[in-house]
Amino acid sequence: MEAILLVGGQGTRLRPLTISTPKPLLPTAGVAFLAHQLARAREAGVTRIIFATSYRAEMFEAAFGHRAQGVDLAYVSEREPLGTGGAIRNAATALASGPDDPVLILNGDILSGHDVPAQVELHQRSNAAATLHLTTVDDPSRFGVVPTDADGRVTGFMEKAARPVTDQINAGCYVFRRSEIDAIPLGEVVSVERETFPTLISSGATVMGYVESAYWLDVGTPEAFVRGSCDLVLGRIASPAMPGEPGDRLILPGAVVSDGAVVREGTTVGRGAEIEAGATVLGSVLQDGAFIAEGATVRDSVLGRGARVGPGAVLDGVILGDGASVGPGNELRDGLRLWPGISLPPTAVRFSADD
Ligand code: GDD
Ligand code: MG
Repeated sequence: MEAILLVGGQGTRLRPLTISTPKPLLPTAGVAFLAHQLARAREAGVTRIIFATSYRAEMFEAAFGHRAQGVDLAYVSEREPLGTGGAIRNAATALASGPDDPVLILNGDILSGHDVPAQVELHQRSNAAATLHLTTVDDPSRFGVVPTDADGRVTGFMEKAARPVTDQINAGCYVFRRSEIDAIPLGEVVSVERETFPTLISSGATVMGYVESAYWLDVGTPEAFVRGSCDLVLGRIASPAMPGEPGDRLILPGAVVSDGAVVREGTTVGRGAEIEAGATVLGSVLQDGAFIAEGATVRDSVLGRGARVGPGAVLDGVILGDGASVGPGNELRDGLRLWPGISLPPTAVRFSADD
């Protein structure tokens, strides 16, 4: 089976990490995020994937070439972003599948443990135009809300609805009958969520919902990105692309972690990164060459390449861009982000334990 992978988004919510690297290529549990998706697609029987690229298109081919994780790869780029539907149509020009064949479409920022072959089987059995993987989340307002009837047929599609009618959402993995993709106008900006699905449903086409609540995560926000990386390291979602066995931490070759440091909760320590004695690093992602000094505490945070945390500093839910540096004693919390190369001086006032 062939698949189209949507990877043209700008990854705005993950800035500044996505200034230099597109979201799907961010190091996640030791490899580019997409390596996990490619490996899982391969396991599900996908043999060829077309990348639908736009933002920093050239970096994808440079990263994966024409074969990776056992899958053949091709690239189709948009000069201007065409939206999700326009991107799917554009990439379809490179498909070899016949008009009635099922084609898998994947959002490029999803970690999912659902049973793709079972989704394809439902699609074929229902002779559907399209079959969507659906799952449930606590806050459906950030997603495409997708109600279904008693037979599992999709009855509506409301993208980012202010007042969601159900907590059942589009999980970003579709099976399309090839001919339905070809019906999307070529070279135009089209949203599959706001245009293609609502039109298909109102025209009476069979659109099915494949409901499965396996592990599922959209890694498009900083909190979700860190969680996804740690869940992979901890083995909460299995990935054939993981370098090494699941465990409390993933330490990549060339990293130096002092015996006197505490590193846990799924933290990844990148190549050439260093953690000194007395530092505590929990549930975080350290990209290559990052440095954490003695006595610092880093939790739920991402350190870009070569970022530095000084002695005794505290980071909680923070993103440091490449080469950013936090001087001794600073406390940064709650979604704070430092842009690449920014340096915070040491705190002027040092507190002692009896203050
Ligand atoms: N090639 C290309 N061109 N890709 C694009 C474009 C484009 O113009 N726009 C977005 N993409 C890609 C992104 O790179 C991403 O992989 C995917 O399409 C979805 O875009 P996001 O920006 O991540 O959308 P979202 O997370 O807000 O919402 C989507 O995913 C949700 C599930 O996580 C929608 O499909 C929702 O309906 C869905 O619930
Ligand atoms: Mg997303």
